[in-house]
Order: sequence, then structure tokens, then C-alpha cells
Amino acid sequence: MKAIIGGTGVDTLEGIDSERQVVNTPYGDVALFVGKGKDASLVFLPRHGSDHSILPHLINYRANVKALEILGVTHAIGIYAVGSITEKLAPGKVGLVSDFVDLSSGREHTFYTGGERGVVHTSMDEVFDATLKAKILKEDESLLDSGVYICTNGPRLETPAEIRYLRCIGGDIVGMTLATEVSLLREANISTLALAYSINWAAGIEHEHVTFITDEQIASLKGSMTELCCNVLQSS
Ligand code: HPA
Repeated sequence: MKAIIGGTGVDTLEGIDSERQVVNTPYGDVALFVGKGKDASLVFLPRHGSDHSILPHLINYRANVKALEILGVTHAIGIYAVGSITEKLAPGKVGLVSDFVDLSSGREHTFYTGGERGVVHTSMDEVFDATLKAKILKEDESLLDSGVYICTNGPRLETPAEIRYLRCIGGDIVGMTLATEVSLLREANISTLALAYSINWAAGIEHEHVTFITDEQIASLKGSMTELCCNVLQSS
């Protein structure tokens, strides 16, 4: 079983015949969509809920990832809306995330909390799956390298001074969800790839005020990104 995890602007998956299913996990219930017929090996999880009502710092990441684990998901591609700090990924563009820095706080970010599960320090030296990466690049050679994702806690956007700082520490793009989600996916031993799509220049970059790309642009990116993910996951 393979999964697509969608975020802002990618709350539904069109073109795949799927059934809503609620999975009970020790961390809470998760509603997701399981493909039917020829797409039976595909799960779509809208991380903010299907009505996009859950803020990044309030997402139940552990329940989401545990639900995928319970369904037997082995590979997942996450889609993340980001702000651009460097020109590696301008607004309206899609690229592969190469690494991340986690600056989020106060979240339930691990399955290892002591007790019976023991003391485990999951390796993060190869965060993203090389085989999935090779497959996606074969499918779309023009896919950009969107660089290093900095995960802030949100839900507020950053100040221009914070963005200058994030640039200094090696950040190319900024978002509020990837680090927590990907850390848990790695702990659950689910092979992962992250597609970032930029919806704005980050604060203080290029424009005086943060402005977002249009809903029509987001909808068009959504179509091409989800199609790409489906092709890659169904061929692996
Ligand atoms: N900052 C943080 N998260 C984001 C942004 C941003 O500018 N754009 C989209 N997600």
C-alpha cells in the first residue's frame, strides 16, 4: 500500500475512485481515502482534514502516520505548500525537498516516549528515499531541487528578520508541517519523498508584503502534482 499526503490546496484527490475510511489508532481516529478497483493500493490522507480545518501546530501527526502504518503503507509522498526564501524554488514552482531543519516546538513529534518501546534514536542521515527519488525524476526530469525546508511552528507567518535568519542557517523554503510528519514517517519505517510547491515569497523577500499565488494557480499545480505522485507510487 502506498500513500499520498496532501496539504494546503491539496485536500482532495481527483481522478482516483476512492472510499472514505476512518482508521482507529491509539492516538485518535483518522479519516482518509482508500482507492478502489485498480487504484486499491493507494491511500490519500489530507493532513489538515478534508475540509482543511486543522492548523499545522494542531495536526495530530502521530495519529495520521499511525493510521498509514495500520493500513500497511510502505511508501508515502508528502505534498507541502511552502514560502520561498531562495530563488531555488520561485512561487508557482514544484520541487523535491532535499533535507529539513526542525524549528517547531510543543508538538507530539515521536512514537518513542519511553516504557515498553525502549530507547530508540531513529537515523535521519538519509531522510528521503533514493529509489522513490529516482522514479519521480524519471517521470519528470524537469523537477527542481527545492533545497532545505525549514519547519516553523506557525500558525503565524515569519517576520522579515526571522526569514533573514532562516536564510543564514541554510534554509531555502519555509513551511509548518514537513519536519514533524517526516520524522514520524521515518520512525514508522515508511519510505518517504517530499514535494514542495511554493505559494509565496517569504516575508521580506522580493516584495514588501507577503502575497500568495492565486487559487487557480494552486488548483493547476495540485492536478499535476497528484498525477505525478499517483504515477510514481503505482509504478513502484
Ligand atoms: N511561511 C511558513 N509557512 C508557509 C509559508 C510561509 O511563508 N507559505 C506557505 N507555508
